[in-house]
Amino acid sequence: MNSGPEPDPAEWRTLTPDDGMYLNIQIDRQEYRVLSGLSVAAALITLGFRAFRSTAQGKRRGLFCGMGSCYDCLVEINGVPDQRACLTRVEAGMRIRTGIDQ
Ligand code: FES
Repeated sequence: MNSGPEPDPAEWRTLTPDDGMYLNIQIDRQEYRVLSGLSVAAALITLGFRAFRSTAQGKRRGLFCGMGSCYDCLVEINGVPDQRACLTRVEAGMRIRTGIDQ
C-alpha cells in the first residue's frame, strides 16, 4: 500500500492568527481568538476555562463526557441558555456565557 511521501517534521509549524484559521468569539464579555473547527468546549478548555457552569448547589461543572450525554458542559450561546458546549462548533462572533465567575 502506498501512503504517499513521508511528512518532513522540519516543515511543521504552529498555526498563528495570521494563518486565517482563527475566528473571534466572546466569552463572558471578553474577546478571544480561537482556532476554527473547535467545539465550544474545546475552545473553552484551550483558553484555560475548567468550569463552564455551576449547579444549584454551587458545584462547578465543565467538560466531562465530551459527547453530549452528561449535560455538565451547558453554557449560554448567543443568548440561548443550556447549550451543550461539547456538541456546538465555534462560529465567528459567537457570544458564550459561562454560568460562573472564572
Ligand atoms: S461534556 Fe457531557 S454533554 Fe457535554
